[in-house]
Amino acid sequence: MMRNRSPWLIGALLLPLVLNGCGIIDAFDGDQAVRVYSGRHYDLEEAFEEYATETGIDVEFLYGGDAELRERLRTEGEDTLADVFITADAANLQLAADEELLQPMDSAIVSGLPDNMVHPDQLWVGLSKRVRTIMYHPDRVDPSELSTYEDLTDPKWKGRLCMRNSNNVYTQSLVASLIHHHGYDAALEIVDGWVANDTEILSNDIVILETIAAGGCDVGITNHYYLARLLEDDPDFPVEPFWANQDQQGVHVNISGAGVTADADNPDLAVDLIEWLATDGQESFVYGNNEYPVNPDVAGPPLVREWGTFLEDPLNAAEFASLNADAIRLMNEAGYD
Ligand SMILES: [Fe+2]
Repeated sequence: MMRNRSPWLIGALLLPLVLNGCGIIDAFDGDQAVRVYSGRHYDLEEAFEEYATETGIDVEFLYGGDAELRERLRTEGEDTLADVFITADAANLQLAADEELLQPMDSAIVSGLPDNMVHPDQLWVGLSKRVRTIMYHPDRVDPSELSTYEDLTDPKWKGRLCMRNSNNVYTQSLVASLIHHHGYDAALEIVDGWVANDTEILSNDIVILETIAAGGCDVGITNHYYLARLLEDDPDFPVEPFWANQDQQGVHVNISGAGVTADADNPDLAVDLIEWLATDGQESFVYGNNEYPVNPDVAGPPLVREWGTFLEDPLNAAEFASLNADAIRLMNEAGYD
């Protein structure tokens, strides 16, 4: 589970950085540092400590929700101290790009990554992949019964499903991908079908997996690394992943990624950090949270490698943002909480 932290996490070299009661930074000492607004709340700081050790450049963080930090960047404008914006989901990266809160990177390393992981103007880049797929209890479900997100509308799943709440951006991005592939009306029918199956809506992915394990549901949809996290604590945790939609477009893949803020004081350092996270730091960045690498030269963490390979939906993550408002409206219309 995540650790509690003070709002700012200072890298290896301690800087006298002060927050007042409103969360505004009062002073830096002028030493070289790259400053990050991060929506990731995982135990991944090891990567940034490595970066500080290798380069002598400190990394300083302000943590918050993806949308909250995006709002903060907008409010601060050119006064922002953030050089880098890191999110746990693609929609908020693209929304930041749409709001002109990010600037292009012009990096050969970034352009060498898979196209669907990179904004066409390098306003953001995915740094790790998170697969949002079907999870099931192997004692109560045979994987041959499973196939697609869409099939979870089948009455055979009535009363057996657990899913994530609609105000979570992971849910919104999954529904956005359904809108992209099927159109609004057909996607609405799918979400209507989930609701008609009395799907239990829960507030986080860990609770979904624990509810499956405890017998409260048989099947759910979560990000893969939450299962990995539970399996690290208990190798016998009784839930297995099923890669959804393998005979169609592939399983839904979201990214955690980064962009350089439009008003960064240190845009070169920001690009350097992002390039490092995509290359030398890629392994420790993704291994810290059992995510899949975006860099094809890096192998996935051992635990998730055991789950084998699968077809990924190649949809560019920017699409999750352009369909985000529709996804929210659709779930509201379907009565999906
Ligand atoms: Fe997450």
